[in-house]
Amino acid sequence: METQAPPASFTVIPNRHPASEEERWLAMENPVFGKVFTDHMARATWRDGEGWVDRRIVALAPLPLHPGAAVLHYAQQGFEGLKAYRHEDGSIWLFRPEANAARLAATCRRMALPEVSEEDFLGALEGIVSADRNWVPGTPGASLYLRPFIIATEPSLLVQPANEADFLVTASPVGAYLSTAGDGVSIWVSRGFHRANPGGTGEAKTAGNYAASMLPQREAKEHGCQQVLFLDAREDTYVEELGGMNLIAVRADGSVVTPRLGGTILPGITRDSILMLLRDEGRTVEERDIALAEILEGLESGEIVELFACGTAAVVTPIARLVSDDFDVAVPPREGESVADAVLTRLTDLQYGRAEDPHGWMRKVVDAPEG
Ligand code: PLP
Ligand code: COI
Repeated sequence: METQAPPASFTVIPNRHPASEEERWLAMENPVFGKVFTDHMARATWRDGEGWVDRRIVALAPLPLHPGAAVLHYAQQGFEGLKAYRHEDGSIWLFRPEANAARLAATCRRMALPEVSEEDFLGALEGIVSADRNWVPGTPGASLYLRPFIIATEPSLLVQPANEADFLVTASPVGAYLSTAGDGVSIWVSRGFHRANPGGTGEAKTAGNYAASMLPQREAKEHGCQQVLFLDAREDTYVEELGGMNLIAVRADGSVVTPRLGGTILPGITRDSILMLLRDEGRTVEERDIALAEILEGLESGEIVELFACGTAAVVTPIARLVSDDFDVAVPPREGESVADAVLTRLTDLQYGRAEDPHGWMRKVVDAPEG
């Protein structure tokens, strides 16, 4: 485990009106992603000169926010996404939370926000998961999605780094993010819009990147696609990533290729984990620029045999079709087990405690109940 210091302690002030057991079970039955929230949230406050104070786990409630709060005007913000998994013995585990802590710290630096330390990040997560342990689903494929985020709260319309911020974590029981009925999802390749540009905020996990993806995402829906794939802004040539997922291609020789990181792509923790698992298997993994033309030609010639998307919410989602104004290309279905299927099983077996964890990725946050 990569942790240096023990998680910070968050004072628990229990929700005095938690959902009843029946309400909870109803809410947890087939939840729509991110629409159901648990009884609590974690919260800490930062003021310039004072640092982080008031670490607490409190009842989930609307935030009193001044209408001039900087986040509402200039999107000075950062966020994360990770999941808590219930293992068969009832214990609850997080997957690589130290990596999310490091990425949030990098986002904070890019957004001129105060850094949330790894101790505070882990303390908040352990606090909320422990308080809301009954909300962690035990059904196959389901988990508790955790959304840590930091917002600039200073009431100020000056365009300058805020001197007040809040760090919060909410929790939501979730099932699948994308419906993958059939052979996979259809992806709209955006030509006019770009998600990120060199020197911009593409590799940070910050709200503005997602705000910019809403219109292309709507365009995707209008063309019968579930997600949008962005090309690079400089040359409009190379594939980068989807609105909320990274992209991986499998070649006929079993090797794997994915766009390299380098400023405009979010360094996905699922991507990194999958690449490691594939390298463990002895596969060749290339991280490099990939032209859209290379993918389209590869699909046509049979050189590329699989495309899949990956991320915390989407886990591993096969892509069945790439669509744009001037093409509509199907990814031929694979005979036998695909690499996407195999890697999904490998990853989720590890996350749900059904397989060995050779890299020490899992972190226990709630013990199995006694007896
Ligand atoms: N790319 C974008 C734009 C994302 O929002 C996400 C999701 O967090 C990912 C990729 C995948 O990252 P991760 O695997 O860390 O969830
Ligand atoms: C995640 O996978 O955690 C994300 O933040 C992506 C978003 C599309 C839900």
